[in-house]
Amino acid sequence: MKGLILSGGKGTRLYPLTFTSAKQLIPVGNKPILVRVIESIRDAGISEIGIVIGDTGNEIKKIIGDGSRWNVNITYIPQVAPLGLAHAVKISQDFLGEDRFVMFLGDNVIQGGISPLIADFADSDYNSQIVLTRVNHPERYGVAVLKENGQVEYLVEKPKEAPSNLALVGIYMFDKNIFEAVRGIRPSWRGELEITDAIQWLVDHDYDVHAYIHRGWWIDTGEPGEMIEANCRVLEELEYHIHGYIDRSSEVDLRVMIEKGAEVINSIIRGPAIIGENTRIVNAFVGPFTSIYHDCLVENAEISRSIVLENSQIRNVGRRIEDSLIGRDVIIHRSPIRPKSFKFTLGDNSVVGLLSE
Ligand code: TTP
Repeated sequence: MKGLILSGGKGTRLYPLTFTSAKQLIPVGNKPILVRVIESIRDAGISEIGIVIGDTGNEIKKIIGDGSRWNVNITYIPQVAPLGLAHAVKISQDFLGEDRFVMFLGDNVIQGGISPLIADFADSDYNSQIVLTRVNHPERYGVAVLKENGQVEYLVEKPKEAPSNLALVGIYMFDKNIFEAVRGIRPSWRGELEITDAIQWLVDHDYDVHAYIHRGWWIDTGEPGEMIEANCRVLEELEYHIHGYIDRSSEVDLRVMIEKGAEVINSIIRGPAIIGENTRIVNAFVGPFTSIYHDCLVENAEISRSIVLENSQIRNVGRRIEDSLIGRDVIIHRSPIRPKSFKFTLGDNSVVGLLSE
């Protein structure tokens, strides 16, 4: 089998972080989501992986390279514009050939890997296998209705009244018949070739589309809140180690990971949390569910339930920062310059939440 990861798209819901950077490279538990996806495909025994890329392709190529770091072989497939998940399949036909394959959205995080689902499909005659999970608000997702034998009867995209609570997870398995399906469908009202339409086409043409019900958690990280939730879930499951330095006056919980070259000075860290390589935490409090990436500084400040990307600094901030997604090379500090006022340099689409008095 081969793997196909979708890492194009615009990531508009994560602006300004994703104006110029790929959303799939945002780290949760200090590891880019895309790397988590590559590792879970590899751990399911697949080494030939195609990555569909868009405007942020160069950044992805720079970080992922030929994949040898993860013992996989990567082929990049450029997509001119985000014309839909089924369009991404269409343009990948040369790479996929006649092989059965798993398609994984490059911004999805799933508990427990995908080996069981891949084994299920690899040993079967199914033409396609979709992954479903029970959700509380099915109207926000693609929803499936199943027959008694587990075959898919039909799919609906974001229904007003959901016919079931089984939502489509961003992992799909296909055989070569999917190419006929993507040629057989037309763009939807939003101008995209929809994968749900292609799967419905398979069902309508009597192909065997089977459902696998995933029972762990799964997060589609479109929005900042979902990124923070994914970070919490991943941190809860990490194995912890201390490779950095903690001074005697600091207090560090059991479930804290301190990476190489990191320093914790006169600070309190409550787990689960991770402090990246060469990051310094000085006279600070880092609360649960926080991931601070490499080469950062948190000094005379408090932060919890947040993600901080590389090279950022948080200094002398009087109030605790919470539920925040802070980009690369950001500086948040108390300014000595008068007048005593808030002074911002923010990119387009930034969001700042100030205290209500
Ligand atoms: P989406 O979350 O549907 O789209 P997006 O990433 O552009 O985000 P937003 O809605 O905030 O603008 O995409 C799911 C995944 O599939 C994501 O990793 C991007 C990828 N994708 C492609 O590679 N090609 C496409 O044509 C589309 C629509 C998405």
